[in-house]
Amino acid sequence: DRVISVGLCGFGVVGQGVFNHLQKREKDLGVQLGAKVKVTRIAVRDTSKKRDYDFDESTLTTDPLSIARDPEIDVVCELMGGTGLALDVTMAALEAGKVVVSANKALICDHGEALFAAAKKGNGQLLFEASVAGGIPVIKAIKDGLVINRFSSIYGILNGTCNYMLTRMTKEGASYQDILVQAKKLGYAEADESLDVDGIDTAHKAVVLAYLAYGRWVPYKDILVQGISEVTQADISFAKENGYAIKLLAVIDVAHASGKLYISILPTLVSKKYVLGSVDGVFNAVSIIGDVVGETVYIGPGAGRDATASAVIADIVDGAKSLVQGGSKFVDPAPQGGDLIELAEP
Ligand code: NDP
Ligand code: HSE
Repeated sequence: DRVISVGLCGFGVVGQGVFNHLQKREKDLGVQLGAKVKVTRIAVRDTSKKRDYDFDESTLTTDPLSIARDPEIDVVCELMGGTGLALDVTMAALEAGKVVVSANKALICDHGEALFAAAKKGNGQLLFEASVAGGIPVIKAIKDGLVINRFSSIYGILNGTCNYMLTRMTKEGASYQDILVQAKKLGYAEADESLDVDGIDTAHKAVVLAYLAYGRWVPYKDILVQGISEVTQADISFAKENGYAIKLLAVIDVAHASGKLYISILPTLVSKKYVLGSVDGVFNAVSIIGDVVGETVYIGPGAGRDATASAVIADIVDGAKSLVQGGSKFVDPAPQGGDLIELAEP
């Protein structure tokens, strides 16, 4: 049987989840793909750290670039985070014509254009389902399931940490700091949690969704971003008493009057009668309005080990399928002609 060799760059919350579930389903996947999917190399920062699953320690390295450049590796998973080394690793693997699976929304937001150009040039493939809304297959929904639609708006609760915090502040009156510590322990928060609570992570994800829907990379500086750190118990009580919930809402909208595209990330009063107003805890939700289908809404866990591993593995399997079938790997997931859409002033 053919073996598809997977290199995991990062073996933390997400990387270990991917390893665990790939191992558990190795047989099923083998039958489905006609090829074995095996993790053959793993990069970490600290090789002495205790890990949550048994694995072959001879697969470890502290040099993720060596995995990106390894001719024996077919699929490189970038699960380290950040936009420094992660960029070098992703670029090197794409230039080498590999399948790259990324959960790194900061990287795709900041460098998406260059990464897709490198993928095209090197005939690599960049897949990033886990970068937006954790376990919800919303990227597949936009690029495949809704392909015939033109989109008037996308509204999203896109950060699991913030929704978890706002929910517990609302339901239990729990303190902001205590719940943030809990969100970190549960593996929801970013290594730098200000990315979550300041709305930056939500903005990164909104940029990725806007690219998929409109084919246009919206510069981060053109987005109005406010996080949840100034939301008070008084705000929450006011919302509750009036039939609303406070959600950190991403709005990606094409304004009717001007036809211009804008993105905002703001703590927002959302009616409890609207589906997004009742999406609680670590769950995310995305409402998409397309001209052919109307409104579709996607709800599910937006962060955490298993949910994110589910999305990463979906991409590994897609990449493996394209390798088994052979032929060209590069695909631009976004509609062409996006440059025709004007951006609104922030
Ligand atoms: P973790 O901090 O848990 O894991 C990061 C891993 O990368 C660790 O294994 C770390 O090694 C390794 N690493 C970091 N820097 C280096 C380096 N310089 N060289 C080698 N290895 C390195 O992060 P997560 O798993 O939570 O997140 C990973 C990515 O997935 C991020 O981009 C994040 O935004 C994204 N993501 C996370 C989700 C979540 O719920 N956690 C959900 C969706 C996306 P070591 O273990 O030795 O420290
Ligand atoms: N820190 C992110 C969140 C991880 O809480 O949503 C998922 O992207």
